[in-house]
Amino acid sequence: MHIAITGSSGLVGREFVAMATPLGSRITRMVRGMPAEGQLQWDPLSGVSDAKGLEGVDAVVHLAGENISARRWTAEFKRRIRDSRVLGTRSLCESLASLHRPPRVLVAASAVGFYGDRPGEYLDESSPPGTGFLAETCREWEDASSPARDAGIRVVFLRFGMVLSAHGGALAKMLPPFRLGLGGRVGSGRQIWSWIAVQDAAGAIAHCLAAESLSGPVNAVAPEAVSSAEFARAVALRLRRPAFAAVPAWAARAVFGEMADELLLSSACVRPRVLLESGFAFRYPTLSGALQHLLG
Ligand SMILES: NC(=O)c1ccc[n+]([C@@H]2O[C@H](COP(=O)([O-])OP(=O)(O)OC[C@H]3O[C@@H](n4cnc5c(N)ncnc54)[C@H](OP(=O)(O)O)[C@@H]3O)[C@@H](O)[C@H]2O)c1
Repeated sequence: MHIAITGSSGLVGREFVAMATPLGSRITRMVRGMPAEGQLQWDPLSGVSDAKGLEGVDAVVHLAGENISARRWTAEFKRRIRDSRVLGTRSLCESLASLHRPPRVLVAASAVGFYGDRPGEYLDESSPPGTGFLAETCREWEDASSPARDAGIRVVFLRFGMVLSAHGGALAKMLPPFRLGLGGRVGSGRQIWSWIAVQDAAGAIAHCLAAESLSGPVNAVAPEAVSSAEFARAVALRLRRPAFAAVPAWAARAVFGEMADELLLSSACVRPRVLLESGFAFRYPTLSGALQHLLG
């Protein structure tokens, strides 16, 4: 397969490229800056500068977006989070729709943030969207791919849970306090976090590219969602440290502002129904297995 990819320098993109290249896929990176040889330039606001470079590509993987936890959510930063996804997806999909030979499939990132804060519910792909900034952004982000769908391209949105890697993302940020024995649950600890190991996140992309029956939303989460308290205990156990400390909700809000409510204190028990029904085999279905692999 010849696969073009946006966001290839990110956590999931790096893993996907590292996985797909040895399997014989030809990868064309779509970059926002000056392209090196074999790369394509695109601008999230105006699309692909030379869309002809995408003629004949078999598939597009679209992972680009402003990193949502890079800083506190000011009004300006929230605009960047939204625009980089909604405008970026729309401009990319308009470029794809304009091709004489469009790709057969687009696998685009979304997030379990789509479901919002839903304590006490089991959520699958048929669940309605939640409320809040992330839920609203995810809904608009998914809707922005309509030009590709209208052009007959099979479009899959992968609603990623918290992607676990020792080299970036949420887990890597949590490790320093845990290593000092200062890690613990956030808030009440009862809120459910849906997560996926980075290797399975990359594997889920490959699965959705290949599984021609799939389109629409696909939850990219491990089958075993856990509470924040269980998550803290599992990380502490793996690092052989205590997990007595706790971050009270007020402290999380003081440090992270609105992001604390939407990411850390929010609860979403999300099930990977479509992945399991379509035969995806998780390498790391349990948190203890994932942490053993990721943290050694
Ligand atoms: N990691 C998670 O826990 C998680 C959870 C749920 C959903 N997701 C979603 O899955 C996708 C991939 O996640 P990730 O963890 O790999 O993300 P990431 O590490 O933050 O990487 C995203 C990539 O997007 C590009 N990018 C950065 N700022 C941008 C901007 N303002 N406009 C357009 N592109 C920009 C960059 O790639 P280039 O420099 O190569 O363009 C960056 O490497 C993201 O859309 C993310 O929202 C991730």
